[in-house]
Amino acid sequence: MAEKKRIVLDVLRGETVFPPPIWMMRQAGRYLPEYRETRKRAGGFLDLCYNPDFAVEVTLQPIKRFGFDASILFSDILVVPHALGRDLRFEEGRGPVMTPIAMEDIATLSTEAFHEVLAPVYETVRRLRKELPEETTLLGFCGAPWTVATYMIAGHGTPDQAPARLFGYRHPEAMRDLLDLLARQSADYLIRQIDAGADAVQIFDSWSGVLDEACFQDYCMRPVAEIVRRVRAVHPDTPIIGFPKGAGSLYDGYRAATGITALGIDWSVPLSQAKTLQGHGAVQGNLDPLRLVAGGKALDEGVDAILRELGSGPLVFNLGHGITPEAPIAHVERMVARVREATT
Ligand code: CP3
Repeated sequence: MAEKKRIVLDVLRGETVFPPPIWMMRQAGRYLPEYRETRKRAGGFLDLCYNPDFAVEVTLQPIKRFGFDASILFSDILVVPHALGRDLRFEEGRGPVMTPIAMEDIATLSTEAFHEVLAPVYETVRRLRKELPEETTLLGFCGAPWTVATYMIAGHGTPDQAPARLFGYRHPEAMRDLLDLLARQSADYLIRQIDAGADAVQIFDSWSGVLDEACFQDYCMRPVAEIVRRVRAVHPDTPIIGFPKGAGSLYDGYRAATGITALGIDWSVPLSQAKTLQGHGAVQGNLDPLRLVAGGKALDEGVDAILRELGSGPLVFNLGHGITPEAPIAHVERMVARVREATT
């Protein structure tokens, strides 16, 4: 069966493969000259996301260049609020900008045009599954409700998500309504991506590390568990990767509380803790993206430590967060070669 050869899927389901399969978060992005060229032709970032010709092209770029074992759909987590009627633009050097949502706006979010707006994303997934090599795992994704909500509430990125945290303390019911709506829509969005050909999906909770324990349970674990429940009801066998970035010791209960299949870990997770987490299923990560920028000894030692500590269990080699635009291509090549040539 074709799927048998997709080793990322085998590992996500708990098999140990050495050397481990490898891909990178944000592998299609500004560190690639071919990405910058396509982005210029497309016009803006959202034109890339909503045009299947461009989105397929940039998704395939890192696969052609590095032969990664997984390909991640090119899109953005903020297309979900956009499809719920919120405005969204990406400003050069500033990132995403939206009109901050007020408490009274939450009830006016409309799901009517949701799948219509996102139809080009589903078309991109369909085309990708046809164009990718048979052995390359295709990953769909969404943002976790909390992380998406932080941008909806502040209207832009902030270092500590103070606006969203305050919103939650002041308006707990409105926060719950917003997160519940995002969980339902995100689950539907992932189900459609899987229908279209995604082999597995990842839920990015990039800002889970700023919350206290009670809020982490309420804003991160509870809505992600709801997404997992809904996706599993339709696609019980599709692996789901959860990535609660910065969760620290709260990583320990995350898999059991949410039901995710595999756990994405950031570089601040000690490898000894990662080894324990791996006792319950696959882990994915966790090289510091700045080791990739630095290269040389810093890169080699970082790669070797992960392979040494986690290589004897189910591991998908990845960065601990997205690759940055400054990362030299030669360093990516060196990392891939070092992982692929590793011996036990
Ligand atoms: O290759 C891939 O990983 C797939 C594409 C992808 C993008 N964004 C493309 C992108 C994925 C999976 C994302 C997820 C995403 N988007 C997250 C979660 C993961 C993470 O990095 O924490 C978040 C928080 C966002 C929101 C977002 N989008 C921000 C904060 C920014 C600005 C920061 C930046 O790097 O510029 C974006 C823009 C964005 N999304 C770019 C890319 C390639 C850069 C846009 C450009 O080309 O100018």
